Amino acid sequence: MRKLYRELFLEISIYLYLVVSKLLKVKTNLSINGKSYPIQAPKKMPLLWAIRDIVGLTGTKFGCGVGQCGACSVLINGNLTKSCSILVADVIEKEIFTIEGTSENLEILRQTWSDGNVPQCGYCQSGQLIAATSLLDAIEKPTDKDIDDAMSANLCRCGTYTRIKKAIHKAVALKNETV
Ligand code: FES
Ligand code: FES
Repeated sequence: MRKLYRELFLEISIYLYLVVSKLLKVKTNLSINGKSYPIQAPKKMPLLWAIRDIVGLTGTKFGCGVGQCGACSVLINGNLTKSCSILVADVIEKEIFTIEGTSENLEILRQTWSDGNVPQCGYCQSGQLIAATSLLDAIEKPTDKDIDDAMSANLCRCGTYTRIKKAIHKAVALKNETV
């Protein structure tokens, strides 16, 4: 009789575990760089983990994990966002743009980044490029102060700030040449 109770208890526990874990998961599509990715993830999973570990787009980096460094920057509906600090459940039906995406401003910035040898170790640079893209999307000809303000939340341990500023100014100049 005891054995029967134990087995019953075990079966009920497994059933409850499956029900609860299903309730705590979200099954949805993430729209990233214009493409739809079906995912199933815990509701409390930060977007960064879903982008990197589930979708497999690893250009967006994990730095601090607590919203302090900007390495994980992405655009959500065009707004600069730290993907470590927003949950998957909060970006459903929103458009996510990562470093793997393409846009006119990002392409010009990639070029001036490369021309100016901006990256050193490179770890922070995808976040820097996304922040710079967000800046140029918002302000056509940013001043030094605009750049400082826009990029201040993106840290670079290698100290590439001066090259980043030059590359942003160069991108603006290049854009105006081609207009
Ligand atoms: Fe997101 Fe540092 S990893 S801000
Ligand atoms: Fe090394 Fe920025 S290039 S942290």
